[in-house]
Amino acid sequence: MKICCIGAGYVGGPTMAMIAHKCKDHAVTVVDINQARIDAWNSDDLPVFEPGLDDIVRANRGENLFFSTDIDGAIKEADIIFLSVNTPTKTYGVGAGRAADLRYVEKCARKIAEVAEEGKIVVEKSTLPVRTAESVKRILESNCNGRKFQILSNPEFLAEGTAMQDLEAPDRVLIGGDQTPEGLAAIQKLVDVYAAWVPRERILTTNLWSSELSKLTANAFLAQRISSINAISALCEATGADVDEVAHAIGTDSRIGPKFLKASVGFGGSCFQKDIYNLVYLCEHFGLPDVAAYWNAVIEMNDYQKHRFSRRVLASMFNTVSDKKIAILGFAFKKDTNDTRESAAIYVCGDLLEEQANLAIYDPKVSSEQIHKDLGIDSANPYVTICKDAYEATKDAHAALILTEWDEFKALDYQKIYEQMQLPAFLFDGRNLLDLSQLREIGFEASGIGRG
Ligand code: NAD
Ligand code: UDX
Repeated sequence: MKICCIGAGYVGGPTMAMIAHKCKDHAVTVVDINQARIDAWNSDDLPVFEPGLDDIVRANRGENLFFSTDIDGAIKEADIIFLSVNTPTKTYGVGAGRAADLRYVEKCARKIAEVAEEGKIVVEKSTLPVRTAESVKRILESNCNGRKFQILSNPEFLAEGTAMQDLEAPDRVLIGGDQTPEGLAAIQKLVDVYAAWVPRERILTTNLWSSELSKLTANAFLAQRISSINAISALCEATGADVDEVAHAIGTDSRIGPKFLKASVGFGGSCFQKDIYNLVYLCEHFGLPDVAAYWNAVIEMNDYQKHRFSRRVLASMFNTVSDKKIAILGFAFKKDTNDTRESAAIYVCGDLLEEQANLAIYDPKVSSEQIHKDLGIDSANPYVTICKDAYEATKDAHAALILTEWDEFKALDYQKIYEQMQLPAFLFDGRNLLDLSQLREIGFEASGIGRG
């Protein structure tokens, strides 16, 4: 078969690379309107950093994996078309700040309707509000001239940083479609693609609306766990309990389970906040304000946590950070990715810049251009310096803040760092990565999230 994916981003690129890798009989073309992104996918410097991605792209690119800006050509040839374009939170008009902005999805549907010469299977890979498939179908079927389209929902559950592992051995693949003979046949075609490497019992099939809603629900539940443990972290700090110990104690209850209980400076990433806002908007739209308020609290708690961290830094440092050098270790929203979307670091840095601190920022994978863009400043801004490593960032600093849990921050020589910092030297571990008692033995004034 010929497979086309519209959208060569964090999901489209890795997902299609894995399909091409596992299904040598299919030709997979990933298309995008962004020429620079496509050029990067065709170069040695891929636009997405994911452990293991380079090898898979290199092994398959030019064989049965292609990256192109010829969107029309790829649509015409394809049997199956994945929509993997961005669905950010709407910033204008009705639902601004909450509803999903569906303009990119709609543009793709119109483009398919315009150029496809025969019926196709169109797969929603993007995360979408429940019942979006209905709109996609209406656009495709108006003016269809007898062409028959089948719409499937196949949400993606990969997490960044572990995308290739998640794609290779997913907990489940979810496929929703119309429960008609044609719909079921389309579902079966997509099941067959995944069945090349995913055990059949892990491929779940359902109707369109359940599939669309399952994705929003999964992200809401995951984010809710983080907000729950972060809420407890504030209580731990007030009472002397240790949030890691509390998380361990509750996580051994098999009904609760140990995953996603790591207290932090707040969840980031392109998905959690956007998808919960989307869920909140849907609940309001369907006349369920109490349900909307319940899920909205997950985001409110996350905002509280990010600013609580900044306030704590300020309070510990004698209520002034003005003119003090503060090292920021980590800017990505989690380790093993160069993605900074909604990273807690953006908010913490923003708070500290308002207090006129001098920030020395180091991240192993995020570019200086990206950091400047995220902070809304230009490279000449005197308050922000981008450093080449953690030692440069902490030289003569009053405080160091760990905001991303990169493994290399565990292996730093903290004795050396302490010796080159201003005294008293503060270390704020926003990821609970380090042993606080060891840091305090060195001489640091050290604190972590929910650990006093
Ligand atoms: P992204 O911004 O990295 O990539 C989207 C790409 O689509 C961009 O390169 C953009 O240029 C392209 N695009 C937009 N409109 C286009 C058009 N009309 N024609 C061709 N290309 C177009 O986004 P992403 O992180 O890959 O996310 C894509 C979708 O997957 C979103 O709905 C997101 O919620 C969902 N998702 C993301 C993740 C994740 O970890 N990033 C995980 C699961 C699901
Ligand atoms: C998330 C979902 O996990 C994934 O299934 C979905 O497809 C996309 O959204 P992602 O945002 O890439 O994936 O990463 P994830 O591992 O979920 O982490 C999100 C944020 O939560 C990060 O900032 C991370 O540091 C934080 N986090 C995660 C915590 O603070 N504590 C935890 O216990 C887990």
